[in-house]
Formats: sequence, structure tokens, C-alpha cells
Amino acid sequence: MSTELNRKRLINILQLAYSGERAAGYAYRGHWQSVSDPNEKARIKTIEDEEWHHRELVGEMLATLNAAPNKWREIRATIIGHTIGVICHLSFWFVAMYGAGKLESGNVCEYFVMMHYFHSLGIRDHDAILYEMGMKEKEHEAYFLDQIKDSRLLPFFERVFSWGRTSSLNDVHLGAKHAVADSHRYCTTSKISHVNAPAKVGSENR
Ligand SMILES: [Fe+2]
Ligand SMILES: [Fe+2]
Repeated sequence: MSTELNRKRLINILQLAYSGERAAGYAYRGHWQSVSDPNEKARIKTIEDEEWHHRELVGEMLATLNAAPNKWREIRATIIGHTIGVICHLSFWFVAMYGAGKLESGNVCEYFVMMHYFHSLGIRDHDAILYEMGMKEKEHEAYFLDQIKDSRLLPFFERVFSWGRTSSLNDVHLGAKHAVADSHRYCTTSKISHVNAPAKVGSENR
């Protein structure tokens, strides 16, 4: 029973991530088109490409579970992504950078939580790819934080929105990474992790 429940939850998280990457792809397209600095434009364009690549990889994982993307979430992601893309053209530079960084901070654990769920099903084939994707999201978070770290607005935004120089939504540190084999230790208290008990014990017995 818990295995079946974990499988359903994993499919749900994969579908969310699959559509989330689509929203991110469109949002970043608007974001890089809205900035004027050529370096920022190039970096954010690369981030857009990386989000589309993540989507492909997540889609392949969904297929291994004989599951398909959720059509409604796909439509919603398209609308949200394009809307954020337009907002980027209308909003202040700092706000777009801050919003992207906070969203990225929340995306990091998605991939490590997926790893917990795959482990609960006895599947370890995707560990390296999930690790790569989680770390890539962390790099995205670090990039956006780096852009705004000296802004006088950041302390205020950090107090209000709980993300910034001293607060993150994940426990990954690029300067002190766990190895892939130990990366199941990340994000064990993440809000999106509800792996059923027997499975969780299994993943911690590695
Ligand atoms: Fe991504
Ligand atoms: Fe990202």
C-alpha cells in the first residue's frame, strides 16, 4: 500500500516538475529578453535552455513509470510562464532577479525529494541525473542572489519574503556538497517530502 502511495506521489511531483519547467522556460525567455546587459541576457538565456533540458529529463522519468504529463498543469504552466515573462518586462530589474532567485531556491529540493521517492520504490537509476538537476537549480539560485547581493533592497525583501543572503529554501551548499551517494540526506525536512515510513527507512539504509 505505501509503495503504491509513494508511486502516486512521485508521479504527482514529476508532473508538477515537468510543467514547472515549462513555466520556468517561458518565464526566463521573457526575463532575458527584458534585461539590457549582454552578460545577464546570455546567462539567463542559458538558464532557460537548462530548464527545457530538465523538462526533457523529467519527461523521460515519467515515462519510465508509465505515466504522462498532466494536461491541465501543462496549460496552466504555459499561461503562468508567459504571464511572468510579460511581467519581467514591466517590473523593476531587482524584483525580477529576486523573484527568480526565490523560485529557484524552492526548486532545488524537488529533485532530491524525487530521489527519496524513487528510492522508496527501489529505483536508484536516476540518482546522478536528479543530483545534477538539483545542483543546477542551486547554481541558478546562487546566480540570481549574486546579482542582487549588494542591493540595499535585499535586507527588506529578505525579511518580508524569507529568502536572501542568509535564508534559503533548501539545505544544499555549493561550497560543501554531499557526494551523489550521500545526497539522499538533502531536503529530508522539505515540505513536499511525504515519503511513507517503510520506504524512508529503506532510503536511509543506504
Ligand atoms: Fe529546472
Ligand atoms: Fe532553475
